[in-house]
Amino acid sequence: MTRSKASPVHAADPIGRRVGALLAEMTLHEKIGQMSQVNGGESYIHDYLAEALRAGRVGSVLNEVNVDTVNELQRIAVEESRLGIPLLIGRDVIHGFRTIFPIPLGQAASWNPQLAAECAAVAAREAAAAGINWTFAPMIDIARDPRWGRIAESLGEDPQLASVLGAAMVRGYQGDREGSEHGAEHGAGLSDAGTIAACAKHFAGYGAAESGRDYATANVPENELRNVHLRPFRAAVDAGVATLMTSFSEVDGVPATANEFLLDTVLRGEWNFEGLVVSDWDSIRQLSIHGLTADDRGSALEAARAGVDMEMHGDAYLCHLAQLVEEGEIDPAGIDAAVTRILALKFRLGLFENPYTDPGAFPAAADEQALATAKRAALQSAVLLKNECKALPLSTEATRTLAVIGPLADAPHDQLGTWIFDGDEDLSVTPLQAIREQAGEEVDVRYLRAMDTSRSRDTAVFDEAAALAADADAVLLFLGEEAILSGEAHSRADIGLPGAQSELVARMSEVGKPVIAVILAGRPLTLSDIVDRVDAILYAWHPGTMAGPALADLLFGVESPCGKLPATFPRMVGQVPIYYNHKNTGKPPSPDTVVHIDDIDPSAPQLSLGMTAFHLDAGYTPLFPFGHGLSYTTFDYQNIRTDVEELVPGDSITVSADVANTGERPAVEVAQLYVRDLVGNVTRPVRELKGFRRLRLEPGERTTVSFVLRAEDLAFYGRDMRLRTEPGEFHAWIGGSSATELQAAFRLVESA
Ligand code: BGC
Repeated sequence: MTRSKASPVHAADPIGRRVGALLAEMTLHEKIGQMSQVNGGESYIHDYLAEALRAGRVGSVLNEVNVDTVNELQRIAVEESRLGIPLLIGRDVIHGFRTIFPIPLGQAASWNPQLAAECAAVAAREAAAAGINWTFAPMIDIARDPRWGRIAESLGEDPQLASVLGAAMVRGYQGDREGSEHGAEHGAGLSDAGTIAACAKHFAGYGAAESGRDYATANVPENELRNVHLRPFRAAVDAGVATLMTSFSEVDGVPATANEFLLDTVLRGEWNFEGLVVSDWDSIRQLSIHGLTADDRGSALEAARAGVDMEMHGDAYLCHLAQLVEEGEIDPAGIDAAVTRILALKFRLGLFENPYTDPGAFPAAADEQALATAKRAALQSAVLLKNECKALPLSTEATRTLAVIGPLADAPHDQLGTWIFDGDEDLSVTPLQAIREQAGEEVDVRYLRAMDTSRSRDTAVFDEAAALAADADAVLLFLGEEAILSGEAHSRADIGLPGAQSELVARMSEVGKPVIAVILAGRPLTLSDIVDRVDAILYAWHPGTMAGPALADLLFGVESPCGKLPATFPRMVGQVPIYYNHKNTGKPPSPDTVVHIDDIDPSAPQLSLGMTAFHLDAGYTPLFPFGHGLSYTTFDYQNIRTDVEELVPGDSITVSADVANTGERPAVEVAQLYVRDLVGNVTRPVRELKGFRRLRLEPGERTTVSFVLRAEDLAFYGRDMRLRTEPGEFHAWIGGSSATELQAAFRLVESA
């Protein structure tokens, strides 16, 4: 081990003293035991596990959620092992525990950090009541590829949005006090009841898996790693995240779990992270499968040297670390530093004072506050992609008969999405149930599932569906992906609507009634084949337990949609990766250089097809850009300006615009600020999100939205891989999506 030799916990502070005293009593084998995390999860303690606990060979157990079993695990560790060290109890509490919130990508579409923090806080409270004290969330991998199943678990494609939301989630899980400048004075902290340690994952570059295939190689140049993929992790560290998890994949030839550059140079060296780093599931032993090491001994050596403190499920550390230390391959000070970080977290969590959980703490009945938060989150995460001829909201006067059709209208499990180990499906309220309730006596709701699953290719009942639609005043189609089609190891190469869904849409569109598609999915889907066949598209992601009440409120206009896309929607999968903050290239496309494959003039010379960066069959624009999202009202942005024309390093500038609600309903708009640095030491993106604000405006109301940009907000990593703020020209835009044209300019100049 290298830098990790330095003790991360200060000997003078109370926790440091306690850790130091405990460490001094530990044998090498007991220390290595702390570095091992084993799988539980059967509401039962096998003899071998009990024995390992007594012998001090286990520092943490994951996946056990039966509170009595957890208490018994703690009791054995505390009462029957020599030193009585309590356990970290880990679990993937990703978008809820019992109450399920929208998938993280859906929560990201709310652009509401406060709400994301509330969801995390409720999840923490529910998980803590089951004895869990450590979650493996938030996942803050930048995801530019919707084929990747884990885009569902991500906060989307943008480093700024992922940074703000990820940091909010960390505060939600751990309590406000952690990472706060005010220290112990304010809010809840890790030692309080109902909070759990968070884990920012997967460090780093995992989201850049080649072709979106989970676990595949990630090729990310260092400059892009620093300017894009590492930013949310830095924000999580600044927010006080207690732990980080390494990624399964390799970056630049070195698997993240053995990556000294990531763990030692950047994380602990440049960022001074003092928390614990855990491997991903068995990712230490997988180092030999990658071909980095020949065997488990070599894997233990590489991971420990790089600075992985704890091995999740696997025994490379247990079997080999002691010998490696004895043979002088690993510095014992490195082991001490790792164990110090582990013990320090246990002290911070208050586990030495009370390792047990009150078995009566878990609420027997549904928790109304949790359900209300889940509804609000589902409501705010839905994105209205399209709404022609005011197809939405539905009017109960004009809609006497409503056809509800599709495989996801009444799917209590699938509306929950991926990572719902502990989710209670019985709490789910489906769209069909809620629509029936909302419609009351006035509207005759007629339902046909039409397809068994979202993947079904059977079109046998499509005639019946068409007849149902023909008799109705409007058709609500609930389409998308079942939960199983996204998440870990659930990547897709074709990201269109699965099965015969497009055909179902085609049949519905022929009927001549307003057709509204509500799409529940774990990723951006390619919707080119249906977009012109429907009147409206409401994109709900997997909205969770309260999908039904939230969607019914939106469909009937009780609330207006306010979600905005956290990831670009491609026209076709071949455009991937397509993301808004791309580079300009030396040959940027424009409408007048694009040629479509159907328009190629056979008599034209072959080399004259535009000569810019576009696809002959897809052009260069997405179907829906990052930040896009409509409302039942309209917003008008005018008069962008800056308070000064120039700023110097250390200074700030305010960029403002006037925003008006020009429609007929009160609604929330997410105003967005984008910036472009025109010339850089390395090329800079064509636009970068620098700020966003949610505004609630009454019809006719006008307000000014202002963003303060500090010179340091304009910093980036240059060719020397150092953060720099360069003088030069900048453009700024404010608007309702990344495609906004409302532009101002300013300059950053050297100090006088
Ligand atoms: C995933 C992690 C997760 C872990 C434990 C792994 O397969 O990559 O994100 O936390 O399993 O369940």
